[in-house]
Formats: sequence, structure tokens, C-alpha cells
Amino acid sequence: MRRAVDHSYTMKLVTAETYRPGLEGVVAAETSLSLVDGQNGRLIIAGYALEDIAAHASFEEVAFLLWRGELPDKATLDEFKSTMATYRVLPSATHSLLEQAAHHQVAPMDALRMAAATFDIDLGDVDDFTRAKAVAARVPPTVATYWRYLTGQEPIPPSPTLGRSANYLYMLTGAEPGPATVRALETYFNTVADHGVNASTFAARVIIATQSDMVSAVTGAIGALKGPLHGGAPGPALDMVFEIGTADRAEEVIRAKLDNEERLMGFGHRVYKVRDPRADVLADAAERMFASEGDMGLYDLAKSVEATALKLLEEYKPGRNLKTNVEFFTALLLHGIGLEIPLFTPTFAAGRVAGWIAHCLEQQRTGRLIRPDSTYIGPTGLTWEPVETRKG
Ligand code: ACO
Repeated sequence: MRRAVDHSYTMKLVTAETYRPGLEGVVAAETSLSLVDGQNGRLIIAGYALEDIAAHASFEEVAFLLWRGELPDKATLDEFKSTMATYRVLPSATHSLLEQAAHHQVAPMDALRMAAATFDIDLGDVDDFTRAKAVAARVPPTVATYWRYLTGQEPIPPSPTLGRSANYLYMLTGAEPGPATVRALETYFNTVADHGVNASTFAARVIIATQSDMVSAVTGAIGALKGPLHGGAPGPALDMVFEIGTADRAEEVIRAKLDNEERLMGFGHRVYKVRDPRADVLADAAERMFASEGDMGLYDLAKSVEATALKLLEEYKPGRNLKTNVEFFTALLLHGIGLEIPLFTPTFAAGRVAGWIAHCLEQQRTGRLIRPDSTYIGPTGLTWEPVETRKG
């Protein structure tokens, strides 16, 4: 028989007042990597305004900046790029795993998570900087190789001479991409490389803080990125643009979604209560790319969908300050580059891996375990009863 439950223990050891659901507003780290200024819509990457750096730097320069705290000079950058390029050749264990995953039609993000766990199989006892280069170098070739297996095509060996972004597109398609496309992808990677203690980065920091290893941390981060509330949003955002089809249908389709209490993918953010600055950088990059190598019609449609969504979000959710986030223009840009929707989130991982690694290196320097408290709200005073006499 169940006994009376004693709730007296819920006079909390940690008071309920300190509990912040979703850790909203809780400061969990000190970082020199990025400043996410949610009130003013500002993103600073290791001292540089996003707008200054994203459209000009190569991804390797941004990774170096995040990991070393300063931009490299030319000779250092060349050496850094060529070392990273050597790690594009995936271990044979990674290839076998990807082949098997394709056989089972595993989703690309799950295949990346499985494969990431093999990234250090051939590295031996290298230092963390070398490990960082290998792990960051291997994400794009893994995604491209998996995509080839999944779509019944032979994988393409990496090019040792192309930059990381160009090589990714080359390994996906077998064709060397044009300069405007490469620039657009570099800008995208730089824009998403780091963003404070977002969910996947926090996951990476928690793992590395136990004195675990970088590959475990990156593998966990990939799992965290996959969810639709984090890195999984751009696919559905593009689906919405396609579903709308023509600007005159935007209001009707979006209104129906909001009446149905659906969330509009690509809008709203935990930190930004004004427009996400990354959305502007990516909108500009998309406009430049579409103007030079693409379809301006889709760009114009997306802008019109965005305007209608913002108007209706204000009507349906007044005062919530739901603005365009990075994922809306990510969808447009990656589609314009020629990537299929299932590649969007793995491509996000290919950029964010720079930040995950940077946070791992930073967290390791603190040497501090991350271990928050919880407030117990369950019963106490229950008495054990053997299964033979226990009542249902
Ligand atoms: N569409 C419609 N309503 C929304 C949206 C949205 N995109 N986002 C938030 N809301 C509403 C909520 O329903 C809630 O309404 P209520 O107060 O009437 O209940 C209110 O706004 C506050 O929402 P919260 O869930 O408390 O906000 P939170 O800070 O937890 O959410 C999140 C942030 C998860 C990003 C949310 O805005 C969302 O789901 N957006 C859509 C998914 C998306 O675009 N994700 C990518 C984010 S960027 C990134 O991770 C890289």
C-alpha cells in the first residue's frame, strides 16, 4: 500500500528562486571568443565585429583567430591551411562506417555524429592544437562523403590544394565551385563559427570540463545541434518559403500556421530580442551570390515572406520581440549554393565546429568541472515494498 508522501523535503536546499528554466539569463562561462549582445543586435568574434570579418576572412583565418586569439600572418596561415588539408583524408574506419550508415539510410546528421567519434582513430598522441585541426578539417569531407554514399554515388577524394570551403563543395559535386559561391559559403561558415554558450557549445564545454577529450565533446555537440530548436531549423524555414511559393500567398499561409499555434522556423531567439545580426550578414551574402550566380526571384520571395512573418508575429505574439534569426537566411544561402535541405544542419556543424573546439580549449584552461544544482520537487518518505506484495 502506498504511504502518505512527505513533501517537507521540498523546502529546497537550493532555493526555487535561483531556478531558471532553460538556464535563461544564467552566466555559465567567461569567454573571450564571442560577445552576443542580444539587446543591441551585435555579435563580436574575438574582438572583431561580425560584419567586418565574415565577408572577408577565410574560414581557416577565423578558426585560427578563435583558437589562438589573434589573426595569423600569411606564412602562419599558409602552414595552418596546408596542415588542415592533410587531415581531409578520412580514416578508413570512417569510410566504412559511412558506407554502413548509408546502407541503413541514416539521416546525414546522425551519420556525422557516428562518424565524428572515429575522427581521432589514426591520430595517436598528438597535442590539442593538432587534434583541433584534424577534427575541424574532417567534418566537411565526412558530410560530403556520406552524401555521395547516401545518394548512390562514388565518394570523391579531397583536393589538397582547394581551401576548406571550396573542397567541401568539390567533394559533394565533383566540380570546382565558382568564386562567388565559395565566398558565400566562407561567409556562412564565418557567421556561424561561434555564438556564445549556445546549446551545442554548452554541451561541448560540459563534456570537456570533465577532463574528457575533444572528440567526445564535438560528438556530443553534434547531437545537441541536431534538434529543430537549435540547428535543425533552416530546412523547415526553406520548406515554408517553398510552400508559400508566391508573395501574394505569404499572409494566408503564415496566418494559418500561427492560428494552428505552429512556430515559424527561422524566427525568434533566446538571446536576440532585436534582429539577429547574423541574419543581415547572410541576407547580404545571399543577395550578392544570387545577383551574380543565382535566382533573384527566390531571394525576393524570401524577403517578402520575412516581412509578412515579422508583421504577423507582432500581431499574434505582441511584445515577444520575435525577429528573424540566422536560420532563415541560412536556408536561402545554402539552397542558393546548391545544397539539398538534409545537408543544411551538417553544414552548420562544419562551421560551428570551430567554435566548439575554441570553447573546449578555453574551458580546459579553467580546469573547472561544470556541475549545476537542481531543486528536488519529488516525494520523500516512501517505504520500500517487495514486488510480491506491491500493489499496482
Ligand atoms: N514562431 C511563433 N511563435 C514563437 C516563435 C516562433 N518562431 N518563437 C517563440 N514564439 C513564441 C512562443 O510560442 C511563446 O509564446 P507564448 O508566450 O504566447 O507562449 C513566446 O514566443 C516565447 O517563446 P519561448 O519558447 O519562451 O522562447 P525561447 O527563448 O525559449 O525560444 C527559440 C527560442 C527556441 C529559438 C524559439 O524562438 C523558436 O522555437 N524558434 C523557431 C525555431 C528556430 O528558428 N530555431 C533556430 C534558432 S537560432 C539557432 O539556434 C542557431
